[in-house]
Amino acid sequence: MQSFDAVIIGAGAAGLFCAAQAGQRGLRVLLIDHAGRVAEKVRISGGGRANFTNRDLDPAAPQRHYLSSNPKFCRSALAGFTPSDFVALLNRHGIAWYEKHKGQLFCDDSAEQLINMLLAECAAAPTHGGLVERWQPCRVQRVKFQDQSALNTSPQGARSYVIYSDQGVIQAPALVVATGGLSIPKIGASDWGLRLARQFGLKVTDTHPGLVPLTFDVTAWAPYAQLAGLALPVEISTGDKKNRMQFHEDLLFTHRGLSGPAVLQISSYWQPGTSIAINLIPGVDVHTELQAAKARSRKLIANELATWLPARLANAWAGLDSTWQRPINEASDKALSKLAEALQRWQLTPTGTEGYKKAEVTVGGVDTRGLSSQTMEALAQPGLYFIGEVIDVTGWLGGYNFQWAWASAAACAQALAERSRTLRT
Ligand code: FDA
Repeated sequence: MQSFDAVIIGAGAAGLFCAAQAGQRGLRVLLIDHAGRVAEKVRISGGGRANFTNRDLDPAAPQRHYLSSNPKFCRSALAGFTPSDFVALLNRHGIAWYEKHKGQLFCDDSAEQLINMLLAECAAAPTHGGLVERWQPCRVQRVKFQDQSALNTSPQGARSYVIYSDQGVIQAPALVVATGGLSIPKIGASDWGLRLARQFGLKVTDTHPGLVPLTFDVTAWAPYAQLAGLALPVEISTGDKKNRMQFHEDLLFTHRGLSGPAVLQISSYWQPGTSIAINLIPGVDVHTELQAAKARSRKLIANELATWLPARLANAWAGLDSTWQRPINEASDKALSKLAEALQRWQLTPTGTEGYKKAEVTVGGVDTRGLSSQTMEALAQPGLYFIGEVIDVTGWLGGYNFQWAWASAAACAQALAERSRTLRT
């Protein structure tokens, strides 16, 4: 049986970074992934350029950009490893990057550079007295915790994980689960990490797809289906007064419903059966503007709407109600009020989402109340760690999910090194 200081399951963003950081702290690490290639999600992220972090992450309240049933859990790790820390690493590797908008940082060239950087960081472990070995593709069949502390004078050293894989049996005092979320199963996502958490008595919160397009009833959507491909900036919200979430972002019409950054953001907060509200003309008092136009213009309402909306949407919108299909000076005040209300408080109830096939993330995961926020170790299961998206910490769109992967991995690697030092002394 081979032994390592730590075994990490999942060679994605968090797993690779944790392996590199632990290896460079002198640990002998084995990284296992069932997929043929590392970090497939990094590869396809940000349109192939990886939106690898976000500069707007609030240093005073980093949890503001994350969803979790235990919102403050992520604060310690995010404060310990910041976007600037990751940028410094990129700079050391000479990887050029740029800021798109709202603090979102992307690689100039390709996400592949980021993956190569993570692999190079792993390969640098031997110069620090460590090692990162990678077994891929390799399936883990089962994991057993062996506790012989009652028979041993060194109780910590007598506890280990035995991992049965299709490339052999491995033993290690620490096991790190970095198997990610449930989205895009065709590139390797699995619920293995959640099942392992349950095996060791940890709770798992309800999971659902996040950062995902919303879908609508086919008949109800028919008048809007012709708008597929059209995008515009909107204000979007969901939730009751107490829990209201609102975003100013771009909306994209699709054949089956709505997408674009505005909808992806709100989808993580949307509860099935509830509605979302969209202001298609944010920052304008449409009611007052329509009344003013009525007094001075004889244009068709659709043409007036085209002042603020793309012409295709203006036409389709005016076509929704017979009282809006006329010159504006002939429209009743009531019809114009109804139009302003419909444009600025468009209420819709999605029937669902495009699901894990199209979602960027999973909302929910391993319940953080069972984990240490400093180390990511299970409180009731020594040596078992969870990092990255498998945990119930979900970031907003815009690089926040990768930042969580890096930060939770860094916190865990530091803890692994301290644990290993304790075991050696
Ligand atoms: P990640 O998914 O990266 O890695 C998990 C690894 O575990 C995979 O390699 C998988 O094969 C492996 N694995 C799973 N089950 C296993 C098992 N049973 N045995 C062995 N290995 C197993 N975020 C962001 O911040 N900016 C962005 O631009 C984007 N863009 C983006 C686009 C798309 C299309 C998607 C789907 C997602 C994004 N994301 C994103 C989200 C981001 O990719 C995600 O949050 C991180 O990759 C999570 O990192 P993890 O390491 O936790 O999981």
